[in-house]
Amino acid sequence: MSDTLSTDTRGTPVLRARGLRREYGRQAGLVRAVSGVDLDVAPGETVAIMGPSGCGKSTLLHLLGGLDRPSAGEIWLAGQSLRGLGERRLARLRRDTVGFVFQAFHLMEELTAAENVELPALLAGRSPGAARRQAGELLDRVGLADRARFLPAALSGGQRQRVAVARALVGDPRVVLADEPTGNLDSEATLDVLRLFEDLHVAGQTLVIVTHDARIAATADRLVTMRDGAFTDETRLTGGTAGAGSGLGALAGLEG
Ligand SMILES: Nc1ncnc2c1ncn2[C@@H]1O[C@H](COP(=O)(O)OP(=O)(O)OP(=O)(O)O)[C@@H](O)[C@H]1O
Ligand SMILES: [Mg+2]
Repeated sequence: MSDTLSTDTRGTPVLRARGLRREYGRQAGLVRAVSGVDLDVAPGETVAIMGPSGCGKSTLLHLLGGLDRPSAGEIWLAGQSLRGLGERRLARLRRDTVGFVFQAFHLMEELTAAENVELPALLAGRSPGAARRQAGELLDRVGLADRARFLPAALSGGQRQRVAVARALVGDPRVVLADEPTGNLDSEATLDVLRLFEDLHVAGQTLVIVTHDARIAATADRLVTMRDGAFTDETRLTGGTAGAGSGLGALAGLEG
């Protein structure tokens, strides 16, 4: 198959990995953080990745989003191979195709919620007016229109994470990669973020979510279990695309 020549066409996996490995250190100190992962993520699909601490989930997510380079194997983002891309082209591809959400939010504390969302739009070359408009729309989408002028310190954890999700959506990324997005949240805020991801899913956003939370995993189309750097199990969850109100939505505690 002409994998290396694949182009960005409809139906092409948004994200594809083959034979992915990432090792740290050497000899006695060698750590095989990711050891032989193959993955295809279809447009609009939500994939949840679960596994014990240290099994390589964050390392894998960083590789998939082009934040880190594999020791071996190949990754295609929106049909484009990352192999051999220089830092500038990789950064541009990342900016144009991937949105990241991290456990620790990573907001700029001295910027308002709106400015945190505007910043990547400005960096992508949008005019100040267009960036402001888009930030307004995205904050509205995550239910925080009335908090736009607040600094992160004045927001709850769940609100901060929703700002971070709005920021990740700048540039209409082909895929959003989230690393334990509810890891720092209490149960109620977790439900807020869970509902937001469910909305994104229903709207057709492709999502890869690393999570310890079975409720998040239950809303995915597919659940992948990871151990010692490799996938050990894959389960297709039939209700995933049916959205909120489906049996799985109810199972995940989305209702009421
Ligand atoms: N920069 C690094 N240098 C050396 N080893 C590393 C580095 N980053 C990660 N590792 C090791 O790689 C393995 C996988 O780490 P990773 O952070 O991907 O795990 P994880 O599944 O995300 O864990 P958690 O659930 O605790 O976040 C671990 O054994 C870790 O110690
Ligand atoms: Mg991790």
